[in-house]
This record gives sequence, structure tokens and C-alpha cells, in this order.
Amino acid sequence: MKNPHTLKLTGPDSFAHIHRTTIGDGLCVLAFDRPDSSANVFDRATLTELDRHLDLLEQDAGLKGVVLASAKKNIFIAGADLHSLADASLDEIRSLIEFGQKVFNRLATLPVPTVAAIHGAAMGGGCELALACDWRVASTAKETKIGLPETQLGLLPAWGGSTRLPRLVGLPKALSLILSGKALAGQPALRCGLVDVISPKEHLLEAALRQITRGKSRRHAPWYLNNWLVADLLDLKLYRDLKRRTHGHYPALFKALEVVLEGVSSTEAESLTAERDAFLELARGEVSRNLIRLFLQTEHAKKSSGPDLLPVRRTAVIGAGVMGAGIAQWFAARSLPVVLRDIGPEQVGRGLATIGKLFEEGLKRRAFTATEARAGLDRVQPATGEVALTHVQFVVEAAVEKMELKKQIFQRLAEETGSGTILATNTSALSITELAEATRAPERVIGFHFFNPVHRMQLVEVVVGRQTDPEVVQRTMQFARQIGKLPVRVADRPGFLVNRVLMPYLVEAGRLFEEGARVGDIDAAMLEFGMPMGPLRLVDEVGVDVAQHVARTLADAFGDRIPVPKVLGWMVGRGALGRKTGAGFYTYKGKRISPSLTAHDFPRTFEGGWLTRQELQWRMALMMLNEAARCVEERVVDRPEEADFAMVMGAGFAPFRGGPLRYTDHVGAEFIVAEMDRLSGLGLKRFAPCDLLRRMAASGEKFYRKEEEHEQQEKRTA
Ligand code: NAI
Repeated sequence: MKNPHTLKLTGPDSFAHIHRTTIGDGLCVLAFDRPDSSANVFDRATLTELDRHLDLLEQDAGLKGVVLASAKKNIFIAGADLHSLADASLDEIRSLIEFGQKVFNRLATLPVPTVAAIHGAAMGGGCELALACDWRVASTAKETKIGLPETQLGLLPAWGGSTRLPRLVGLPKALSLILSGKALAGQPALRCGLVDVISPKEHLLEAALRQITRGKSRRHAPWYLNNWLVADLLDLKLYRDLKRRTHGHYPALFKALEVVLEGVSSTEAESLTAERDAFLELARGEVSRNLIRLFLQTEHAKKSSGPDLLPVRRTAVIGAGVMGAGIAQWFAARSLPVVLRDIGPEQVGRGLATIGKLFEEGLKRRAFTATEARAGLDRVQPATGEVALTHVQFVVEAAVEKMELKKQIFQRLAEETGSGTILATNTSALSITELAEATRAPERVIGFHFFNPVHRMQLVEVVVGRQTDPEVVQRTMQFARQIGKLPVRVADRPGFLVNRVLMPYLVEAGRLFEEGARVGDIDAAMLEFGMPMGPLRLVDEVGVDVAQHVARTLADAFGDRIPVPKVLGWMVGRGALGRKTGAGFYTYKGKRISPSLTAHDFPRTFEGGWLTRQELQWRMALMMLNEAARCVEERVVDRPEEADFAMVMGAGFAPFRGGPLRYTDHVGAEFIVAEMDRLSGLGLKRFAPCDLLRRMAASGEKFYRKEEEHEQQEKRTA
């Protein structure tokens, strides 16, 4: 028997998105196959087709069972079409939810057994479709992922997922899946009860057909998991956890908790209504719009806009320190041979040890198998001196941050490599143009700025120097995508984008400390704002010396606007370089982190010790908002969306706020300018707002004008 991935089912009952075939004896397969796309998604057209298929199935007296499958290679159904959701009015969203619920209810109440045969991603609406079936059979392939990620987009499952999942697997597991948005592979999905059977993908259809012989499913979570007592206990525990973790910034999590908990003591119809109402309330809010926009931008960053160029086959990394080793490991894990070069055996050996550790950690996380890890490690070719690099298409330099040293390295690289080799630097803040001009091949030199740690941070800034060849830019952008990173193109200005916006914020944190604010208060203020880590903890993680170095580069470029806080030099002088030396703004002993006595001894003025957390937060946040606006003004990025995206992906700027510029729109440029004027009026000249913000304050202009108009329209019609 053919498997559903090779079935090309056409015939009188086939529509554009879903093909139907009868495989004898009253059994039929509905195979989702969205035209001109490698993925299936749910939109109105697909739902309408499913509805029409259900009309036909209901009229089919000989029907004995239905399998729902995908004709795509590696995707079952990836979820709802977020593009159409982002553009839809509230009325359209309401109608789409009601329609989806109606169609899935029809599927759930078909008199014959139904089975979802899942290979590939069954996310969101795809998972909800499977939940509306009697049985779920999943492939054991690693592409298979089943989950409900809606809360990560500021929404909740509203095509029956919040109602059916707890009824199937019980409240504790359902809430864990819905609140984390995590997707499960076949085996864990089986353990959790989300699927009934797993099978190799080649035998998935047989397994699904076998399941039909079991008839309609009556499987329900046991009563001792779904009752008001369990619901109350979970409410108590999870509400507190969510509040602590998110500071209440992600309303979807609380709504989902409420709907799921109440759902188990309601009828299915009542619970579905609650899903719908909660979804509409969340869709109206700013948070879901911001999260959906960021998601779509991530998807956009993954796609190439230009012509397809030849992929990179061989790479080299110069410098085997923290970043060089991280980059080389990433290349090797993506099947790329990599020459790793440093000045001596000790340095290269350290780099190899770091790479080995990264592979080991990946193995523990099950990111790859032992064989894959060994093969990855074998792809790293250590070198302690110059080796032939003529066959290498992409070189990344990650040696120490010193312009003269980097110039020497690049002069040699321009000679050692072929004319098609891209010469990239991972510098955090040095000028690409200046570096390029020191070489014979400035057109091949480009910035390729990773973030630390390389294996966790998806963003890469692609920094274009004055003489960088446009084709080199295009190839570098494509290479970033080839290795699974998200590139953002930025201009060659000091600090590029992310460090440039982040640094005034870190500097302000240092200044507030000097003025007497407590380390714990400064960091808590920004955690409450939604940053993943307090600014002083971040300085410790980055290294106080590294932070001071980047701050100096920016101070050289921008003068008094971003002055280097004295406390950084003071701590460097005492060897308190942050986590790596066990002391910085905090003291690190094993897993214990406590306020640092070294930092405490710094002679502070205490003139700002009276600031409330809110004022601390506002002062630090304003620094980021102003600098991000300056970056748009100076065209460091082409569009405000790119600055916001880069700040969320590269610096963890509170995602629910949508990025610094989106947040500026939300608060209003007029208010921000008034606040900055107030602070600079107090003698804090670094708070002077940039010209762009002033103009926007005067004209009412926004960074996201179109979207604002859309929201206004919504409000008028609501
Ligand atoms: P590191 O100090 O850990 O490593 C630098 C390595 O370069 C050392 O192993 C050193 O022996 C080697 N090196 C020195 N001269 C060399 C030469 N002539 N040829 C080959 N190797 C040489 O430094 P880290 O942190 O890895 O930084 C490297 C680069 O990455 C710097 O430009 C830095 O600004 C940038 N960067 C650092 C980030 C971080 O968080 N550490 C983040 C993003 C960029």
C-alpha cells in the first residue's frame, strides 16, 4: 500500500487543497496538499473544502472510515495561516473561528471512525484537526512535531484545542502543552497520550487503517485528572508560576489557563464558546499583534529574496576563543567542514575542547545523535599556522577585538584565499570599511556578527562596508540562512544595531548604580519591564572588560551622549570581570549568585538612590528607545521593523512590546520626548531626544503608520 506522502489523489472528489481517494472497502483518505506550497496551512479556503468533503462523506452510505493525511513531504498541517489572521478584522476572525469550530465538530461527529495520520509538523490548527479525529497515528520521523503553540503568539487554541486536549490527556498534561507551546515528537506524544500509535513513516497509512478497525474512540482522560479539585490546585500553582515568570505581561497564558480549567466542568459547546470569546479578546490586544508580527518577521528572515546562489561547502574560522569555537561548532554541526585556526596549539586545543563540550551538550539535549556529534567533531580541522584556504568559500575571523591585529589577519586572508572567498569578521564594533580598506580585496570583506552563545542566538548582523560588493552581501545573507540563522542587514556604523541600542541602556544601568541605586533594584526593574536578564547581570555575563571596551568604542564615536560609566574601569582594575572571574556586579559561587562586595565598595554619590523602580525602569528604557530611533534616522537598518526584530532576537527586548520602536508608537513619541526633555532639564544631557523623535512628536507620525490606521479602524467599528 502506498504511503500518504506519495499519494497524488485526484478525481471527481478532489478539490484544490484536499484530495480524496477511496481505497476500497468503504475506506477513504483525505490528503491535504496546498497548491504551490511546500506547507499545508489552514485558511478559509481549506476549511471550506474540508466542509465540502464532509458533505460528501456524510452522504456516502458505504463509508466505513476516514484517514486524514498530508501529501506534503515533511509537514502535516503547520497551523492557521497567520498572514491572513494578521490582516483580518475582528469580524472576520470571529467568523473564521466559528467556521473552524463548526467544521471540526462535524468531523468529530462523523458516524464512522476517523484517524489522523501525522507525519511532519501538526501545529496549532493541524493539531486541533487531529484532536477532532477518533485516533491519532504519528510517524517516528524526527520531522514529526505535534503541539499547540498559540499562547506563544499571544492567543489560545480556539478550534477546539483548549477543549479537546484536556479531555483526551487530562488537565495537567494539557496545560503543560498549551502553556508552554511545546511540540512533541512521535514517541513523547505517545507517552503523553496525545497520539495512540507511532509507526515508521513508510507504514503510517497501514497503521492508520488498522486503527479504523478499532471503531469510534471512547478514550477520555480519567475522572481523577479532570475534576474541580485538580482544577483548583492547578489554578493555584500555575497562576502563581506564570505571574512570577512573566510579570503578567502575557495575557494569553492566563486566559488559556482560565478557559482550559473551566472547560472541563462545562459542556463542550460552552467550552468552545469560551475559547472563541477569549481568542477574540486576545486578538484585539496589542500583545498578540506584536508577537504575530515578530513571528512573521522571523519567517520572512528565513526566506531569501534574491536569486538562489550556490551554497557554501567549505569554511574557515580564525580565532578559537569563545566566539570562534562557537561559530566553528555551529558550522560543523551543519555539515560544513571547517578549518579552525589560532596562534598556537594551546589556543586551538582550548577551542577544540569547547567544541567537544558543545557537541556533548547538544547530545544531552538530543539535538543530534552520538554518530552525528562524532561526524561533526571530525569536520573541524585544527590549524596552528597558515594553511591553504583557496578552496574555502567563507572565512569568519573571530580573533581578539583589536583593529591593528584584525587588519594584519585580513591582509593575509586577502592573499591566501581565492577571489571568490568571502572574508567576514565577527567584530562587535570595529569599522568594516576601515578593516576592508587595509586589504587588497575590500569588496570581499563584510561583517558577520554572531551573538553569544552562538548555538542559542539566532540573529546574525550582516554589516555592509562602503566597498562591499552587493553580490557578497547577497551570498552572506544566503549563507546565514543556509546555516539556520536569521540575518539582518545593517550599515557599518559604530556598534552596528544591537550593541548600539543596547549599550546606552547598559551604560545607564551603570550610571544609576553610581548614583546609588541598588544592583538588585536596577535588574529587577528591567526584569519587570520584560527583559530576559537584568542589565547588570548582562554586563557580568558579557564580561565587564568587554562591556567597557564596546562602551569606549561607542563613546569615541558618539562622545558625551554615551559616556563610559566609571564603575566599569574601577571593576576591571580590581579584576572583577563578571562571571568569568567569579565576581562583577554579583558574586558567583557555583550556582549561587549574590550581590557583589567588590561592586559595593565603589564610591557612589547616592544622588539617585531615591529613585523608584518605575523611574529606574523608565530611565533605562528611554535610552534604548531613543537610540533605536536614531538608528532609523541614520539608516542603520532600512525599516523600523528590522530594528525591532533585531532587538528582540539579538538582545531579548521584551517581545510582547514588539521592539523598541513599536513600543515607542504605543507610548507615543510626544510623551517620550516630553519625558526626555524633563530628564535632560535636570542636567542629564544624555537624555536629549533625537531629531526624528522630535519631528514625530510634533507631527504625530508613527513608525508603524499603516498598522495604527488599521487599529483605529477596528476601534471605530467595534
Ligand atoms: P576570545 O578572547 O575568547 O578569543 C580570541 C581568540 O583569538 C583567542 O583564542 C586568541 O588566541 C585568538 N587570536 C589572537 N590573535 C590571533 C591571530 N592572529 N590569528 C588567529 N587567532 C588569533 O574572544 P571572543 O570573545 O571569542 O571574541 C572574538 C571576536 O568576536 C571579537 O572581535 C569580539 O569583539 C567578537 N564578539 C564577541 C562576543 C562575545 O560575547 N564574546 C559576541 C560577538 C562578537
